[in-house]
Amino acid sequence: MGSVYARLEAGLSAVRLSRLARAVKRQRLTYLSYAKLLRLEEALDRVVSGQVDGHFLEFGVALGGSAILIAEAATRARQPFVGFDVFGMIPPPASEKDDAISKARYQTIANGSATGIGGDLYYGYRTSLYDDVVTAFRRNGFVVDSKAITLVKGLFEDTWPTASVSSVAFCHIDCDWYDPVWFCLKQVAPRLAANGSILLDDYHDYGGCRRATDEFLDAHPDFELSDGPNVALRRRGNISSLRPPERAVAAG
Ligand SMILES: C[S@@+](CC[C@H](N)C(=O)[O-])C[C@H]1O[C@@H](n2cnc3c(N)ncnc32)[C@H](O)[C@@H]1O
Repeated sequence: MGSVYARLEAGLSAVRLSRLARAVKRQRLTYLSYAKLLRLEEALDRVVSGQVDGHFLEFGVALGGSAILIAEAATRARQPFVGFDVFGMIPPPASEKDDAISKARYQTIANGSATGIGGDLYYGYRTSLYDDVVTAFRRNGFVVDSKAITLVKGLFEDTWPTASVSSVAFCHIDCDWYDPVWFCLKQVAPRLAANGSILLDDYHDYGGCRRATDEFLDAHPDFELSDGPNVALRRRGNISSLRPPERAVAAG
């Protein structure tokens, strides 16, 4: 029965997605489920319609699917988009706060037996991942020009200090393990603009992400969590905790 409900929910989410979201899913550019993509698009719509001033960011670009959606929203808002990733093999879950599921997943990747979306080569094994992502952006109508749209290759810890971001309107944190999630929250939260939003992909998937988020919330009671397949963090009392603008059901 569970899978019937899951399929029904996926179908309902899919019809409410933008044409672009359905295209990146069809092109196998994202690991996000339909329900997560819908939450991402709704969070982006809130920030765009609230005219929140600041960068749109993603930590964890991989094949570029969610990044393309964030870049599209940033373009609508006339704000810069910056995506950060090693564009190679994912660093290991190095903290004792990471769970057994994370460590097992990393072992599968490290021993060469991970498979990609729909049987593709796993993205971490590609030698041309950065160029492939730039090509995917272009195919979907966006030019990585290092001005309006920037992709920064390297470890977050090394590249973030070079990015000079002072204000953040929206940030998607999709990097699985405790250390990078904790790092991103520590760097981004103090720069989050009024009515800005942080979306965390892995809260319900990997224990390290959950630990980092829970520790952050314990230390920052001025932030609240909005639960769902992926979870959102916002400052308490911000208008972005209100309902998003209604999404039109896309045809075709
Ligand atoms: C789950 S994938 C991102 C999925 C993507 N957002 C999508 O739409 O499918 C996580 C990415 O985070 C990157 N990553 C994790 N930790 C990192 C770190 N410390 N520095 C740079 N990249 C990191 C990995 O290499 C990987 O590409």
